[in-house]
Amino acid sequence: MILRMFVGTHKKPDFAVGKYPAKRGESHRGKIGAETELTKNSTPLLKVSNLSKDFGKIQVLRNISFAFRAGASVAITGPSGSGKSTLLHLIGTLEKPSGGRVEINNTDPFTLTEPELARYRNAVIGFVFQEHHLLPQYSVLENVLIPTLVFKGKPPDATQRAYELLQQVGLTHRRSHRPAELSGGERQRVAIARALINRPGILLCDEPTGNLDNTTAETIANVLFELHKAEQNILIVVTHNLAFASLFQNHLKLADGTCTVETDIGTTNSSSAFLAEN
Ligand SMILES: Nc1ncnc2c1ncn2[C@@H]1O[C@H](COP(=O)(O)OP(=O)(O)O)[C@@H](O)[C@H]1O
Ligand SMILES: [Mg+2]
Repeated sequence: MILRMFVGTHKKPDFAVGKYPAKRGESHRGKIGAETELTKNSTPLLKVSNLSKDFGKIQVLRNISFAFRAGASVAITGPSGSGKSTLLHLIGTLEKPSGGRVEINNTDPFTLTEPELARYRNAVIGFVFQEHHLLPQYSVLENVLIPTLVFKGKPPDATQRAYELLQQVGLTHRRSHRPAELSGGERQRVAIARALINRPGILLCDEPTGNLDNTTAETIANVLFELHKAEQNILIVVTHNLAFASLFQNHLKLADGTCTVETDIGTTNSSSAFLAEN
């Protein structure tokens, strides 16, 4: 999974470390590599219809349906093995559904060729995992910039954007440090900045506070919400922490392969897709 996120980054990249651009550059959203209709729109709508996933004889997800607009925040909870990570991987296009559809901006990303899908994923989806998966040989700033290097080099405003994100996660002063020199919470904050560098419309976090103590977890939660407010993306977070889950506008509960979704506007089950109003 991780390798697929960073496909093509085996060469030592040409980082402009320490060269903080004086002028604010234009947004590079949708300008990464060959632009597709899917990467153009900055406000994605995520729609999942009758989604199913089997691994051989194991049926993990059955007929899951929901939809969210840009700006929605969604917590996913459920027992271990209930398919939370599988659902994130399907939404994040890392896994193909066995049945049903994932649509972003009314288009099914699985109709893309594999290289197109990789480019699309890099532009539209951000991932944060329980493990930070930072590259140890690179500095904090370099790690944040890695997703901008995957296709056709770094967009012009990437370094400025990286500085801004590092400031927002409170780590500007650690930009030249290696991941090994950081605490667990600091590494996760770098991972969040990295996930947002390409301004993805959808940010997927799989138990981002799972390895952290309560105080650090709270800091990470605050960082996620503050950046969500600023970026107006769709934020989807898997968590075991029900207090954390209660802070989201929408709460998707997985059990026995199906889901219920609780929102500000009531509860629905997975058989009736709905659009959360935000
Ligand atoms: N690549 C895979 N191959 C086979 N089984 C898998 C694979 N990924 C997940 N599973 C199975 O799917 C079920 C759900 O897994 P997962 O989505 O990781 O659950 P959760 O994140 O809720 O703990 C588990 O029974 C798990 O063993
Ligand atoms: Mg999981």
